[in-house]
Amino acid sequence: MAENTANKHEDGSYFCKERIKYSEEEEARLERQHFWRIIDAFRYYRVHVQEQVKRAERQFRSLPQHHQNMLPGVLSNLTCISQCADHNQDVLQAIIQNSLHMFENIEYGNREDPRKTRTPSTFDMDKLKSTIKQFVRDWSEAGQAERDTCYQPIIQEIQRLFPSDKYDVSKVSVLVPGAGLGRLAWEIARLGYMCQGNEWSFFMLFSSNFVLNRCEKVNSLTLYPWIHQFSNNKKSSDQTRPIRFPDVDPQSLPLSSDFSMVAGDFLEVYSDSDTWDCVATCFFIDTAHNVLEYVETIWKILKPGGVWINLGPLLYHFENLANELSVELSYEDIRSAMVKYGFHIEVERESVPTTYTENDRSMLRYVYDCVFFVARKPTGVYMNVQQDNQQQSLPPAAKSPRRDDTASPT
Ligand SMILES: C[S@@+](CC[C@H](N)C(=O)[O-])C[C@H]1O[C@@H](n2cnc3c(N)ncnc32)[C@H](O)[C@@H]1O
Repeated sequence: MAENTANKHEDGSYFCKERIKYSEEEEARLERQHFWRIIDAFRYYRVHVQEQVKRAERQFRSLPQHHQNMLPGVLSNLTCISQCADHNQDVLQAIIQNSLHMFENIEYGNREDPRKTRTPSTFDMDKLKSTIKQFVRDWSEAGQAERDTCYQPIIQEIQRLFPSDKYDVSKVSVLVPGAGLGRLAWEIARLGYMCQGNEWSFFMLFSSNFVLNRCEKVNSLTLYPWIHQFSNNKKSSDQTRPIRFPDVDPQSLPLSSDFSMVAGDFLEVYSDSDTWDCVATCFFIDTAHNVLEYVETIWKILKPGGVWINLGPLLYHFENLANELSVELSYEDIRSAMVKYGFHIEVERESVPTTYTENDRSMLRYVYDCVFFVARKPTGVYMNVQQDNQQQSLPPAAKSPRRDDTASPT
């Protein structure tokens, strides 16, 4: 039975104060249900896009004949979009193949009742389309400029703070919560640091598992990430242009490298004190219901002397979502809370323009004016740490993830 800790407000509004706690059995059942829901979204992709294409075709055919005659390329472009969707579907099928066994410590078995398959929600389909765009950001040549602005400042700070001529970098532990498709964490591991990515979305986990463990040949695979964008195209062919991935061989990490991905909610998985030398967050802190929970956890899990490096905006993922707690703090407020926790802010840039899964040929483009900081947990707090706590082991792999219910830029 669920132990529901949600509160009802006097004004009738309703929000979850704490996460609902379920019995282990119920938790496992919900987990399976969620897993299959995301698999269904992957499988439904082609039908979903075909519906969009059919609608566009119907609209076009409803135009007066003399208008249609002036636009000889429209129907053939729709046919092309349809073919690109078929191709994307093949890649998505490959991604979910074997996903039944992708976690070391959990099996999802068979769907409870195959007749219960429901049409995936628009929300899940949007998440899937965003995941396809995430391949551009993380694993294509087209994403290089974006990675240079988002990931490089973080990587450069790690190298400055833990240079390989002063540290045995294989012993410097770096955690990347909200790792997405894993490129930032992978790059850090490539430099020899011990790096762990953490992610809770099945969309991301299936996809990162595919790239990291099952892709080898550089630029051997193709996706059409922009076919879902019907507005703001300068040329029809912009909509159907391909991207190739992976731009590097993900298997090319040095044999000695220590790289892992852990599935689950950052707040639930990471609770051991004084464990990490560095926590690197990129476009992550605004995924919190209450960002101070993230600040508190990062403070706790960093070793004394450890650093938190952050780059990102504050586009709060739960803002305006019904029944969800969301506290939308300004950077000023977060900063002041960080200082109260005891963080020393060593580097701070309040205006770092970046993009996120940008379509560089679109007539609508967003720029995030991000904050970047390096905040240190001072060594002084070592006094509270007991001897045997100093040799902490890494956090165990989480049971599994179950969070794809939030709005996010991904
Ligand atoms: C905006 S994306 C950024 C992904 C990646 N860091 C990047 O810069 O491309 C935020 C990511 O955090 C993940 N996420 C959100 N809340 C999380 C949580 N509590 N624990 C782990 N991952 C989470 C989301 O699934 C999503 O992949």
